Amino acid sequence: MVTVNHDYLDLKGSYLFSTIAKKVATYQTNYPEAKIIRMGIGDVTQPLVPAVVEALHKAVDEQANMDTFHGYAPDLGYTFLREKIVEHDYEARGAHVEIDEVFISDGAKGDVANIQEIFGRDNKVAVGDPVYPVYVDSNVMSGRTGTYNAETEMWSDLTYLSATSENNFTPSLPTSHVDLIYLCYPNNPTGTTLTKEALKEWVDYANKEEAIIIYDSAYEAFITDSAIPRSIYEIEGARTCAIEVRSFSKTAGFTGLRLGYTVVPKELVREGVALRSLWARRHSTKFNGAPYIVSRAGEAVYSKEGKKQIKKQIAYYLRNAKMIREYLMEAGYEVFGGTNAPYVWVKTPAGMTSWAFFDFLLEKKQIIVTPGSGFGPSGEGYVRFSAFGEYESVQDAMQRITQ
Ligand code: MLT
Repeated sequence: MVTVNHDYLDLKGSYLFSTIAKKVATYQTNYPEAKIIRMGIGDVTQPLVPAVVEALHKAVDEQANMDTFHGYAPDLGYTFLREKIVEHDYEARGAHVEIDEVFISDGAKGDVANIQEIFGRDNKVAVGDPVYPVYVDSNVMSGRTGTYNAETEMWSDLTYLSATSENNFTPSLPTSHVDLIYLCYPNNPTGTTLTKEALKEWVDYANKEEAIIIYDSAYEAFITDSAIPRSIYEIEGARTCAIEVRSFSKTAGFTGLRLGYTVVPKELVREGVALRSLWARRHSTKFNGAPYIVSRAGEAVYSKEGKKQIKKQIAYYLRNAKMIREYLMEAGYEVFGGTNAPYVWVKTPAGMTSWAFFDFLLEKKQIIVTPGSGFGPSGEGYVRFSAFGEYESVQDAMQRITQ
């Protein structure tokens, strides 16, 4: 008899954003006239910038021609893209990353979910709390999280790094040893950032404990404050303890195109094994490369025109975030994040759970947000507003809430 993977049966409910989508679909069916404003999932709304569109058209034409056609991509991804990444994302910031340490993928979500495969099942895992659910769920799927306590909403074998307004959203170092640490900055969901000094403490901790930090910097493009690190490799010592995952989704609006990358430095060696070689093996066995057309589009993100256009697009979303912050603060809400990030983290009105406030906003204001408790127990009592909407809709939403 075929058996199923019982680790999957341990997963709690459906994926957060699928649960929300189902709730909203039901509401929309019951109230077809309702003009719903979506500020839930962090999906972009602005079209691809002209430099990217031009590169896409050109690459399509190349694929239509015998002499310039491309089939499978090279194992690690196209060199023309990896060179640009190293130059613009790292060298320009004074960080050291080599071309053959960059692995191109079809997005950060897959990488951040799959990276745990190269580590033993018995590693102790630490995650931020609240946290992007993919880190937790992918470790549940591989049987690394122990048993679930429905009352505390915690897994017995996970270490939760609580980040709330009480500690200014800067989690403390674990009090007992952990092996794998997932950090995401600018943070999803709280929209808060870490200073260089705070991130250095994590790097020092990881090196001392011989732990590995999986650093998700998908939202780095939203950092406007030059004192805030955009990459963990800006921190001394990170090459011996950190893997970094990045995305073109939020930076350049590629959620529908799919492109991302992961950096695994050569110095990352555990049990005498270079983690880079394991990830390379995994990548070549389970992935056939990001498409040529999309890789050319990614390259265009780094062109002079592309950079200028993308900066404008990021500024558009940051203007939304600022508006959300200002309206909600004016209305008396406690508001966090949203200055170097596209997410605004908002305390629910007294006595209201995250889901109760979600329901209130959906039913009374026809606005979708993401309930904080969906990101972990420390998210209870908060909701997340995404700033990725169209300016006019965001303004409409804010007027509905504050009316
Ligand atoms: C989010 O809303 O947290 C993100 O859009 C999810 C993702 O990037 O996969």
